[in-house]
Amino acid sequence: MCGIIGYSSKKKNAKDVVIAGLKNLEYRGYDSAGIATSENGKINLYKAKGKIAVLEDKLNNEVINASTAIGHTRWATHGEPNETNAHPHRVGNVTLVHNGIIENYIELKNFLLKNGVTFNSSTDTEVACAYINYIYQKSENKNKLQVISTACDEIRGSYAFSIIFDDELDTIYATRKDSPLIIGLSDDGNFAASDISAILDYTNKYILLEHDEFAKITCDDVEIYNKNLEKIDKEIMFANWSATEYKKNGYEHFMLKEINEQPEVISKLFNNYFENEDYLSINIADYDTIHIVACGSAMHAGMIGKYLFENFASIPVSVEIASEYRYKKQLITPSTLVIIISQSGETADSLAALRIAKEHGAKTIAIVNVVGSSISREADETIYTYAGPEIAVATTKGYTSQVAILSMLVLNAMKQKNILDDSLKNKVQEEIGKIKEVLSKVIDNSEKYIKIASAIKDKEHLFFLGRGIDYTLCLEGSLKLKEISYMHSEAYAAGELKHGTISLIEEGTPVIAIATDKTLYEKTVSNIKETKARGAYVIFITNNDEDVENYNDFADIVLTIPKVTELLQPLVTILPLQLIAYETAKMRGCDIDKPKNLAKSVTVE
Ligand code: G6P
Repeated sequence: MCGIIGYSSKKKNAKDVVIAGLKNLEYRGYDSAGIATSENGKINLYKAKGKIAVLEDKLNNEVINASTAIGHTRWATHGEPNETNAHPHRVGNVTLVHNGIIENYIELKNFLLKNGVTFNSSTDTEVACAYINYIYQKSENKNKLQVISTACDEIRGSYAFSIIFDDELDTIYATRKDSPLIIGLSDDGNFAASDISAILDYTNKYILLEHDEFAKITCDDVEIYNKNLEKIDKEIMFANWSATEYKKNGYEHFMLKEINEQPEVISKLFNNYFENEDYLSINIADYDTIHIVACGSAMHAGMIGKYLFENFASIPVSVEIASEYRYKKQLITPSTLVIIISQSGETADSLAALRIAKEHGAKTIAIVNVVGSSISREADETIYTYAGPEIAVATTKGYTSQVAILSMLVLNAMKQKNILDDSLKNKVQEEIGKIKEVLSKVIDNSEKYIKIASAIKDKEHLFFLGRGIDYTLCLEGSLKLKEISYMHSEAYAAGELKHGTISLIEEGTPVIAIATDKTLYEKTVSNIKETKARGAYVIFITNNDEDVENYNDFADIVLTIPKVTELLQPLVTILPLQLIAYETAKMRGCDIDKPKNLAKSVTVE
């Protein structure tokens, strides 16, 4: 949710480094972008509505040679996406980029208006910038760290700031609260950035800035200060993701690349697990209830977890949307385990939910992809999904790696409860040995996915139907399609459709129906027939090859997928849904990796 990068350079043109960094941060928002450059003793601002490429085109007409620069790619919260509202903002002597939301900006704005300050934009960020400038003007000794700290005492909300003052043009000051910010270190200059992807082309060395810490960054030095403005030493970290992992590597889209990475990611995760089954120090079997809390697809992964925990380990689970969980009455007891799932580890609502769960005394486990992210650092125990960087806004490998970890936790809980029999364990282990090939085979069926996409691409709306675990997969399949193809779809528990929504089925309405659970197969097929009788165009996805001769009675297109043990089946079943969404979005000419209005890392409420 907004990406920021600042660079103070020894030799390179800071403008080029910042623009390159912004491109890697574009997944955080892409409705406008801007850069402030320090050149020949003054600040210049360049802004453009739209993606970084538009800003880049604009900069191509300018001769810029910047020693220091700060840049921003925006996901609008306050004020429409236009040039005036784009960052950086500049008031008086202060130029600033911001990621987050200033909650008391109206209060601060009224105060500043009374003091004669005027505003150009509708943003909360310009208010923060003006407020810092106000404190700066009042300050006698012009100690910048003191100025920022005093201003931040009054600024409520979440923020990561990178700031340049006019009288210190080659220094970037940075601070953060509840929005991520790292400080990158290199021999050629130093950075402030929303995350490591922005700087990996230049360095993998960084410092994690904590809440209420301050950084003073120049081209040859970085100083970090704590809340009391005492200089502190910080651990230098080394990112283990490489710059090439952030490239498309020959794929047309990041999403397709990430879909194709799933067989490797999943098989690695399970193999590591079987090499060290006791890697988790928390004994899940000690808990009577589990709350799984997350947003978006991570929440859908949690729903698979619920199904598996309840069915296999007999532990009741409630799956909660983080933005709801954080404000509801907490019924946490000492025997409640809270599992937070987040690919980015920075989702604001999930982070807040984690903090609330901890405040109420719950033991917390985080399932996270981004190493060192806030959620991973604050949870009692973190299990990494090791999926590598996920760039496409619509998650694929992030989601499946979360599902895989949940399956392993279920196995873990069963083992702890002494209910994991050897036959199930051996079956899972045997299938894991082949999972890479099985998943690759399902992915490698693009003709079929193209056929399905052609059948649905011009429709107004469609349905996904399934029962049990297939219903939870329908939710994710439907979300994927909506996110990237902008088609309206609804996921329904197959037995629920006739309680109202079946009225929307008419001649040719596509229904993507999934039936992988043998015990529910006939029931699901009956529900599909109810839609078929009303004119539905049925795309049937199943692992049941015993009913082949009857498919024609109710299905227009059939996609058979491999049958594996129930604990692993969701990992197989979701792949066609990802690929149907992908091919449909492609045919509809959508911007697959950067769907409109979305951002990957939602660091505001
Ligand atoms: C956004 C993304 C989704 C993601 C959700 C949760 O909405 O577009 O793809 O599932 O955030 O993100 P997280 O990083 O917490 O898994």
